[in-house]
Amino acid sequence: MLSASKAASMRTVVALRVARARPSATSSLSFSTSRAVRTVTANVPPDGPLGVARALQASPTAPPEPTLFAREFSLADRVALVSGGHRGIGLEMALAFAEAGARAVYCVDLPKTPDKNWVKVREYARALAAAGKSKTGAGGEARLEYVCADVRDQVFDVNVNGTLFTAQAAGQQMERFGRGGSIILIASISGHGANKGYPWMSYNTSKSAVLQMARSMACELGAKGIRVNSISPGSIGTTMTTNLMVTPDIEKLWVEQNPLGRIARPDELRGIAVWLASDASSFCTGSE
Ligand SMILES: NC(=O)c1ccc[n+]([C@@H]2O[C@H](COP(=O)([O-])OP(=O)(O)OC[C@H]3O[C@@H](n4cnc5c(N)ncnc54)[C@H](O)[C@@H]3O)[C@@H](O)[C@H]2O)c1
Repeated sequence: MLSASKAASMRTVVALRVARARPSATSSLSFSTSRAVRTVTANVPPDGPLGVARALQASPTAPPEPTLFAREFSLADRVALVSGGHRGIGLEMALAFAEAGARAVYCVDLPKTPDKNWVKVREYARALAAAGKSKTGAGGEARLEYVCADVRDQVFDVNVNGTLFTAQAAGQQMERFGRGGSIILIASISGHGANKGYPWMSYNTSKSAVLQMARSMACELGAKGIRVNSISPGSIGTTMTTNLMVTPDIEKLWVEQNPLGRIARPDELRGIAVWLASDASSFCTGSE
């Protein structure tokens, strides 16, 4: 079991969610299999044709235009909310969403006002957008907004109830707008197996609950075009892990146990976060 002081130091990012703000995500899709040709009307990404279909329909005279980053991975006109977005993995993902073109990213966290690092990251996102370097284009917004709120208290309450309540609220809003969306829950490798030698029963159990929450939510919300997936990071160098590495032995052990032989940087999760938030993962839900 965790002590109360350790529990406080392990407060976590509980959920990431991105709501679509595009005009329409509903269209019709024709596809063929070896047996039949069917037309499906469902929430499919609006930017077709893509990939091979686009290549086959391309005019031999028009210059070809790649779509992978300009469309599938773009978060242009989307709105994101990142709980625990004041630092660590949450802030890293918030900036990634802004760079990928999100119109606004709301960072929900405990401190009454954001610290100087968060403010500097916000200025950087603004400068990127103003210079036309983010996917928003010149003069675009890429707004990072700070909201002070306590999504819950203590390990189990933050990781399970906090995640559930925030994800439920996001799902309800997405349903209200009727344009689908993507909810990303941050679980952990500790939700898949126990960490021998560490008294983390409460943390590990809470993260297993997050895995099941993502699968169950995905089944409930799929018909509404809302996708729900989880990410299970390994050991990432953040304030949370620094607080846990109270002796050099712990860091050495984590490094040795990892197949790549190192602890990751938070920015190494940018790709997976933007992939899950964007249409690039449009057929991925309930996955881990
Ligand atoms: N760092 C890792 O190695 C690692 C590994 C696997 C999973 N995770 C998970 O990733 C997530 C983020 O972890 P991190 O390493 O960035 O931690 P961190 O401690 O650096 O950041 C967590 C953030 O969540 C905020 N927070 C805590 N309780 C809150 C509450 N009640 N309401 C609102 N905000 C709250 C904190 O203030 C902090 O800004 C957590 O869910 C963690 O369990 C991290």
